[in-house]
Amino acid sequence: MEKIVYLNGSLLPVNMAFISPEDRGFNFADGVYEVVKYYRGKPFRFNDHLNRLKRSLREVRINLEDFEQFEAIFLKLLERNELTDQEAGIYLQITRGSHTRIHRFPENIQPTVYASAFPFSTKQEQIENGVKVITAEDIRWLRCDIKSIALLPNVLFAQKAAENNAEETIFIRNGIATEASHSNVIGVKDGILFTHPDSNLILPGITKKVVMEICRENGIRVIEEGIKASELNGMDEMMIVGTGSEITPVVNIDGILISDGKPGPVTRFIQDRFFELTQID
Ligand SMILES: Cc1ncc(COP(=O)(O)O)c(C=O)c1O
Repeated sequence: MEKIVYLNGSLLPVNMAFISPEDRGFNFADGVYEVVKYYRGKPFRFNDHLNRLKRSLREVRINLEDFEQFEAIFLKLLERNELTDQEAGIYLQITRGSHTRIHRFPENIQPTVYASAFPFSTKQEQIENGVKVITAEDIRWLRCDIKSIALLPNVLFAQKAAENNAEETIFIRNGIATEASHSNVIGVKDGILFTHPDSNLILPGITKKVVMEICRENGIRVIEEGIKASELNGMDEMMIVGTGSEITPVVNIDGILISDGKPGPVTRFIQDRFFELTQID
């Protein structure tokens, strides 16, 4: 079956979807994106994703008017790609548009809007047994709150993780764990959850927000404070959370086991509640 994508108002086969080499996404990474997960045809936290998209666009000053269109476009993409009966993802990318290469914003430029659907299954084995991660210095810019398509540091450190047989890299800035290359980082110590507060140093993750809601509803205390790098290995439990990672236990950091190297009870509790919500919402 031919993959069907959305580009600037049309649904068309991916090999017929052409974007100009002068697109500012290509030349400057001048754009933002979102990834939404669909569980059996239903989006999880759609409005949170839409609101974060609006914020990213506002912060980089890309003007887009019609946000109402997206829900219908995404459903069409899932249908046309026969992905409504399974776990699927939607990737949406909006760039400032196409123009002869100049750094400042060109006048009269139309944003390029691109979306595609893809199979996006839960990684059962990782959810069950946990994963290994590594740490590295956070060399990214100071606006990590914008979901920018400029992801080269994230790519380099996802690759470094892969080369070390690890699932993720946790970034460390000034001795504090910020987030990972494509997920937020959460630790548990003495029954209390610790995670970096939303700020310019991390993406305000929607999965992290859901985890915090679960904790508050169930009397688990949350302290929004980044974990010191020197204390990561001494946490009782660690997890990476995100639209793709969902709630993945971390059982090994830089070759050292977390507790006994098995996912802990708080992580299990949060996983159970989280997957209940993905079935309901
Ligand atoms: C750098 C980074 N942090 C955190 C997250 C998790 O965010 P969310 O839960 O909204 O997917 C992602 C997800 O893609 C990410 O790329």
